[in-house]
Amino acid sequence: MRGKFISFEGGEGGGKSTQAARLAGFLRSKGLDVIETREPGGTQQGEDLRDLLVQGDPDRWLPLSELLMMTAARVEHVHRLIEPALAAGKWVICDRFMDSTLAYQGIAGGLGLTMVGQLQEQAVGKAVPDVTFLLDVRAEAGLKRAATRGGAARFEKKGASFHQTLRDGFLAIANENPERIVVVDAEDSFEAVWGQIEQEMGRRFKL
Ligand code: TMP
Repeated sequence: MRGKFISFEGGEGGGKSTQAARLAGFLRSKGLDVIETREPGGTQQGEDLRDLLVQGDPDRWLPLSELLMMTAARVEHVHRLIEPALAAGKWVICDRFMDSTLAYQGIAGGLGLTMVGQLQEQAVGKAVPDVTFLLDVRAEAGLKRAATRGGAARFEKKGASFHQTLRDGFLAIANENPERIVVVDAEDSFEAVWGQIEQEMGRRFKL
């Protein structure tokens, strides 16, 4: 049987990576074969592109260049790792996926959802997530949290109005996809956020 595909999305500092790791542990405890991966990244090609994308000045790349590189990383990821894993019955948990491109490049970057959406359809094919957890956090609170973490900071430096538009953009995308995207208040405690994820996973997949 084909495995399930779960993505985590949201702005900076929402705690996606920690919750994704917790979910992976939970699924493994149920005896499932789980792959944890991330975007941009997940393959050597994707990680090479990630180095170019997440470091340096905020204006290092134009939104259209970002879109093409993010999407190139995704094509490699879907074809080399995600699709084969799902076909082999594995569960795939991805820290960011296509909704990040819609929100960061399409909405906050100003490229619009039509062209960006069409390109994503080409890139992902059948590999649309079965469920997406949107960890929603106010832009300012998230950026504060992200700053204490260090690391990949190029997008964090894009300014308050970019991040406010980004948050609204993610919520608008969730609104358009109410079946697939579950919005979770990420300003709640770690345990409260995890509780919502666990409950939703149980409801959807009878775990
Ligand atoms: P992160 O995985 O540590 O959050 O860093 C990845 C950065 O790349 C993050 O700031 C969001 C950004 N990004 C995009 O702008 N578009 C995309 O499609 C993806 C996957 C990430």
